[in-house]
Amino acid sequence: MGETSDKGQTRVIFKRLLRYISPYKKLIFGSMMASLVVAGSSAVIAKAVEPMIDLVLLKKNQGLIKWVPLFAVLIMAINGMGKFFQEYFLQLSAQNVVKDLRNAMYTNTLGLPMRFFVDNSSAVTLSRIMNDVSLMQYSISQVVVGLVQDGAMFIGLLVVAYVADWQLSLMATVAIPLVAIPASEIGRRIKRYTKKGQGAMADLTMALEQSFSGIKVIKSFGTEKKEIQGFLEKNTTYFSLLKKTIRYDAMTSPMVAILTSFGIAAVIWYGFHRTLNGELTQGQLFSILVAIIMMLTPLKKLAKTNNKLQHAVGAAERIFDLLDEVSDLEVQQPSVSPGKVQGDIRFENVSFAYKDEPVLQNLSFEARSGEIVALVGPSGAGKSTVASLVCRFFDPQHGEILLDGIDLRRYTMDSLKRQLAFVDQETFLFNDNVLNNIRYGRPEATPSEVRAAAQKAFADEFILDMPEGYETRIGDRGVRLSGGQRQRLCIARAILRDAPILVLDEATSALDTESESVVQQALVNLMENRTTLVIAHRLSTVMHADKILVLQSGMLEDEGSHEELLERGGLYRKLYDMQFSDAP
Ligand SMILES: Nc1ncnc2c1ncn2[C@@H]1O[C@H](COP(=O)(O)OP(=O)(O)O)[C@@H](O)[C@H]1O
Ligand SMILES: [Mg+2]
Repeated sequence: MGETSDKGQTRVIFKRLLRYISPYKKLIFGSMMASLVVAGSSAVIAKAVEPMIDLVLLKKNQGLIKWVPLFAVLIMAINGMGKFFQEYFLQLSAQNVVKDLRNAMYTNTLGLPMRFFVDNSSAVTLSRIMNDVSLMQYSISQVVVGLVQDGAMFIGLLVVAYVADWQLSLMATVAIPLVAIPASEIGRRIKRYTKKGQGAMADLTMALEQSFSGIKVIKSFGTEKKEIQGFLEKNTTYFSLLKKTIRYDAMTSPMVAILTSFGIAAVIWYGFHRTLNGELTQGQLFSILVAIIMMLTPLKKLAKTNNKLQHAVGAAERIFDLLDEVSDLEVQQPSVSPGKVQGDIRFENVSFAYKDEPVLQNLSFEARSGEIVALVGPSGAGKSTVASLVCRFFDPQHGEILLDGIDLRRYTMDSLKRQLAFVDQETFLFNDNVLNNIRYGRPEATPSEVRAAAQKAFADEFILDMPEGYETRIGDRGVRLSGGQRQRLCIARAILRDAPILVLDEATSALDTESESVVQQALVNLMENRTTLVIAHRLSTVMHADKILVLQSGMLEDEGSHEELLERGGLYRKLYDMQFSDAP
């Protein structure tokens, strides 16, 4: 039962693969035609043995001798040209399929909601897009080569042999269909271990990514040995799975050779018999023997083609799993797509959980257009979650989030994102120059607009101090910036974006007091005329908010102005006292 569903699944996957392959069917057809030329010329070589022995060697036909070298060169040239086009067209189509698959995978993945990226390691996704596609490409081209080239060659040689003497050839080939039985069992195992192996490869990629991005921690704790140990173990796991597929793959050829050796032995025995009796010429005998021996190579490869196909299916399953991931965020109809909103945000009885544990419970509050609303509370209270919900990284399970009185789920994603600028403490900068980093959210901005934004963010000065000013490359391959500088670039980016809603999640908490006061001033510039949701660790930065929400364990504990909350003496007072206990 398991086997039929397994086979059915393989067929479904194969059909999907064909859909990616079909745009390149002309190339593949060209490759097939070239394969036929290769196969045909190989068959001619086998067939030519007969006249060479019978006419040239035995009948001593002098006139034919001078044609032999010419014929040999010509047939090799045709064979070689055929091989060129066969390979060239095949690789071209295979790499086109790879390109299309990677494009599709990347496009689909980037469209997935945050939940996907929270649940799946980026290294594993990366490994699918790179490693699984590569493996599949390699295997699929081998399959096509196998089926077309080896298949055609096998058939061509078979024809040569059967034309020469069908009885003898039947003896040689009668056992060949038996090859299919062990070959399919081997194929099933190969598919299983390929899939496991590609999973192990993803783990390996993950280990690499982790250790390079966490290199500072590793170096400072001196845990290189531990990390290396972990890597070696993962690599060994991968290797041992690979070893299994290699073992099964290596079994294929000898299995074919053993099964076919009976046929060859019979041909030799019976063939010599008939030649000595004069029923067969020596040329015919050797032509058949050459054809049968030449047949062995494509036959072995054909048996391995199934192995390759199983490799491809194993990898393709992982590829299609990624392509099948869908967004759980839908835009409800009728959708709206306003140019620019007022910026009234209202949470109405919002409850949310990442998994089972409730993170926000029955949360209601309002941030009116142009207001600054601060969220405070102990860590883990759910502040960042509120920010994520406003950005629609996730949807709440209960309740509604309204923007200008309309549920967020009714805004088209594009129009919603146009209303938002988000700054958190992860100051991510792209591997690009300063100019393009600042205008990332508004690529059409002119250099002078970029400069104006940088000035408001107090970044202009240090940018001009850099070797190439606004053209300086930053990020991995460019200059290094301090935390405060990076933060100010991100703020300039948000200023230039000029969105009516601003979400600041601990945007300054990674900074020292001195750069914080500059960044703080930059933020005041940024918050001008916008609805701002500000989450800050330091109460000094939220004191001037129009409204402060005190969050604890996902519930709204209190709400009011700084003075009101201090007077009431609740959690806010406690947090305040804790932070300012050293203050005079
Ligand atoms: N991606 C996530 N998956 C599961 N749980 C999460 C995730 N992010 C945060 N949490 C949990 O949700 C709760 C609130 O987290 P968060 O909103 O980040 O708090 P805060 O920003 O107030 O420190 C915490 O208990 C945290 O462990
Ligand atoms: Mg947080």
